[in-house]
Amino acid sequence: MSSYDLVVIGTGPGGYVCALRAAQLGLKTAVVEKRPTHGGTCLNVGCIPSKALLHASEAFEEATKHFPVLGITVGEPKLDLAKMMSFKQEGVDGNTKGVAFLLKKNGIDTFQGTGRLAGAGRVEVTSEDGGNQILEAKNVVIATGSDVANLPGVTIDEEVVVSSTGALDLTKVPGKLVVIGAGVIGLELGSVWRRLGAEVIVVEYLDRILPGMDGEVGKQFQRILSKQGIQFRLSQKVTGVERTGSGAKVTVEPAAGGAAEVLEADVVLVAIGRVPYTAGLGLETVGIQLDNKGRILTDDRYATNVTGIYAIGDVIAGPMLAHKAEDEGVAVAEILAGKAGHVNYGVIPNVVYTTPEVASVGKSEEELKKDGIAYNTGKFPFTANGRAKVNHTTDGFVKVLADAATDRVLGVHIVGPDAGNLIMEVAVAMEFGASSEDIARTCHAHPTLTEAVKEAALAVEKRALHM
Ligand code: FAD
Ligand code: NAI
Repeated sequence: MSSYDLVVIGTGPGGYVCALRAAQLGLKTAVVEKRPTHGGTCLNVGCIPSKALLHASEAFEEATKHFPVLGITVGEPKLDLAKMMSFKQEGVDGNTKGVAFLLKKNGIDTFQGTGRLAGAGRVEVTSEDGGNQILEAKNVVIATGSDVANLPGVTIDEEVVVSSTGALDLTKVPGKLVVIGAGVIGLELGSVWRRLGAEVIVVEYLDRILPGMDGEVGKQFQRILSKQGIQFRLSQKVTGVERTGSGAKVTVEPAAGGAAEVLEADVVLVAIGRVPYTAGLGLETVGIQLDNKGRILTDDRYATNVTGIYAIGDVIAGPMLAHKAEDEGVAVAEILAGKAGHVNYGVIPNVVYTTPEVASVGKSEEELKKDGIAYNTGKFPFTANGRAKVNHTTDGFVKVLADAATDRVLGVHIVGPDAGNLIMEVAVAMEFGASSEDIARTCHAHPTLTEAVKEAALAVEKRALHM
């Protein structure tokens, strides 16, 4: 029987990064993964393929709509969807192979199969052909991630009624795509298919899009997406999805009650959230506790209630983000090696990779109000940023929220070009406890989009220069 300091179950961003860090720190480490490739949801059917399609579809839209504005004539762009899908798959394969290489390079043993706890310090691995073996482990980290949340009564067939996984693999552009849920997946993948020619209708239960993000950002972003052609049905709930010959009928009703309406669709994307994935893990064999949302309960050192068993990533509480899972992977490996692993949950950036992008870090205005924290606001629109102006990418703004008493930056919210990269200077500043004055006094290169961040920081003291 093989015996390890650490066995990690699941090689998504949480699990594989945890294994790499543990191996760096000298722990004898193995990973167990049931998929044929490493990288989890993120690399196989999440972050990476969605970003490939966002990139490719954006290029298609650029060529179709924006090249003429730039004075470039290339004839009418044609879509070869199969080729676009191979472009996506090549990117996915490159990334998943990269993880396999890193695991090998770091001397980590890999076991393909389903991992199941088989009593204290034991993980049973069952491979697809039914063979099984037991690994002995001083410590186990569960990093089994999450799965699609189902809408009661709606069957996902991944052809007409799809989850994100099916929506990343359609073989033809749907005439009409109905998206259920105006969260990150709905808006990213809705954008992809709109750019490629679909009519997109997003049905959202709440009265706003992107719940959880700053309200003003949500409102302005909805306006931008509407201008792009995405239609929104807010405060509406889907009460049924029925397959017809080649498509589906989606029944929607006002969330507050009222007359139902039927929307015809060629494809329906169910994107109403994700749920922790613990099926078949054998949690009951050792008595691991879950919380009321089915997530594995851990303390602030990622320890479950059972000695020697830890959990990280989407399967525990907190935002379901790859970088949050990765940082927890590093932290728990460091804790297991006797170091002080730590994640600052106050500074986890959140990015929506649409065009324009949406990015935020720290508290929203709604959260600050709820917590009774007095704050000052500095805002700067991209219409007043030289680089955005010259590139004709002026949709959006930067908003800096700073403590009214100390000027410490409490949150920053951006809708705008390259917002996902722009947010990172603020995240670093917040890690160092910066004030808005610190950002405002930092020399920002001209002409860059980052000057909008500096101007928003100046605007906290009502002294923006270009507005
Ligand atoms: P996962 O990545 O889910 O990995 C868990 C792994 O465990 C899987 O490979 C699974 O096969 C394996 N596993 C499960 N049970 C067992 C078992 N019993 N035995 C063996 N193996 C098992 N996040 C971002 O930060 N940025 C993005 O741009 C982004 N885009 C996304 C787009 C989509 C369409 C989706 C669906 C998600 C996206 N996410 C994004 C979220 C991100 O994918 C997750 O937060 C991240 O993958 C969580 O990592 P994890 O390691 O906790 O779990
Ligand atoms: P989400 O939680 O972001 O959004 C789900 C939306 O569906 C919410 O707006 C919710 O109000 C709505 N909803 C729920 N039930 C509904 C119903 N019955 N009818 C209509 N609307 C309903 O979940 P999503 O978009 O599925 O994404 C799952 C997770 O994946 C997210 O938590 C996110 O963290 C992660 N992700 C991250 C990305 C990124 O970082 N760029 C990209 C894609 C996913």
